[in-house]
Amino acid sequence: MDATSPQPAGLLKQHLIDPEICIRCGTCEETCPIDAVSHNDDNYVVDAEICNYCMDCIAPCPTGSIDNWRVVKTAYSVDEQFGWDELPEQGEFADDVDTDLMEALEDEIAALLADAHSGTGGKAVAPASAAKPTVNLFNRSKPANAVVQGNFRLTEEDAENDVRHIILDLGDTVFPVLEGQSIGIIAPGTDANGNAHAVRLYSVSSPRDGERPNTNNMALTVKREAEGICSNYLCDLEKGASVQITGPFGATFLMPEDPQANIFMICTGTGSAPFRAFTERRRRAMSTAPGQMDLYFGARRPEELPYFGPLKKVPQELMRQQLVFSRLPDSPKEYVQDRMVTRAEEVSALLADEKTHVYICGLRGMETGVDESFASICRQASLDWEAIKPRMREEGRYHVETY
Ligand code: A2P
Repeated sequence: MDATSPQPAGLLKQHLIDPEICIRCGTCEETCPIDAVSHNDDNYVVDAEICNYCMDCIAPCPTGSIDNWRVVKTAYSVDEQFGWDELPEQGEFADDVDTDLMEALEDEIAALLADAHSGTGGKAVAPASAAKPTVNLFNRSKPANAVVQGNFRLTEEDAENDVRHIILDLGDTVFPVLEGQSIGIIAPGTDANGNAHAVRLYSVSSPRDGERPNTNNMALTVKREAEGICSNYLCDLEKGASVQITGPFGATFLMPEDPQANIFMICTGTGSAPFRAFTERRRRAMSTAPGQMDLYFGARRPEELPYFGPLKKVPQELMRQQLVFSRLPDSPKEYVQDRMVTRAEEVSALLADEKTHVYICGLRGMETGVDESFASICRQASLDWEAIKPRMREEGRYHVETY
């Protein structure tokens, strides 16, 4: 613990991760410079003995689950946290606890957090009108069982990427998911050290009422990764196979229920999964919504773009589409953020509209590129992106899920 860490006599402001909101992406563990974050099969946790409040993990967390604190006399151990399904309530303290000290502690943490959030605009918040998600119904010790109903290749046979549309039947199991949520997949078997494989998360690409309307099934969009244990397991699954799943996870990357809301979606590759769910939800439940839907979708070539065929059939009135390709033989490389700049007028009009919700999903590198495009588009339109972005985040109108 360093000299500036907020730990006055007898009390500790303990850094905790909310297991109900965390999507188990592992970003915090990767980011922590001193290995204070670790995980078991169920939870990511912070070791109070090691954490020095450097706050490096706060900004990269896509959900804000990392940003939780409890004032305690004795720190919760790592083992206790591994077993949690939800965070404990803030405990009461006896009268002997100095309230000035408590307040000083609050102030110090608030200042550290303000620094950590500068540039990101703060903690992720769900859209005000979003439906309430169910999270953490199933975990590794108590997984749900699903049966594969279909496994279809989405990319052309000659494409470099093998991306699959996998449909899972939940049978009688109650497993409610909202568009934008993820589920965990438990690949069977163990690694070279005899340990169970880590649970991998996949965003659900079907809407809440099922891949087929009013059916207890769901779809995933999975790309085969060269050395990926879980992605190869999923991509090779045959119809009728049983799969163990956990979740649902995620409580902020959700769509607004408001038909007036504009939904501005930016993705690459399998980052399109939640946006397929959003589009289907709007199509099925709000097809005449006055709110505008826009999709900026980047892929190497049309043959590599998941859902290229079905997307062509989505009418313009439901969603405007910008399909952007980086490796066409006779065209210069183009990324989604480049196309946004070419359509600056349309984009700035959306950013200026209080009803617009922005969603970014896909490759991590895209996030910075998109942010720079937003900033430059705003400059041209005399809008202040540095002010708009944090406000959108606070209002649950700016969402990023990159990996
Ligand atoms: P690139 O041709 O440079 O790889 P992938 O096919 O690997 O899943 O990637 C999906 C698309 O995202 C590709 O067109 C890829 O282009 C593009 N891409 C790669 N890096 C970025 C980035 N930093 N910003 C936006 N798009 C990117």
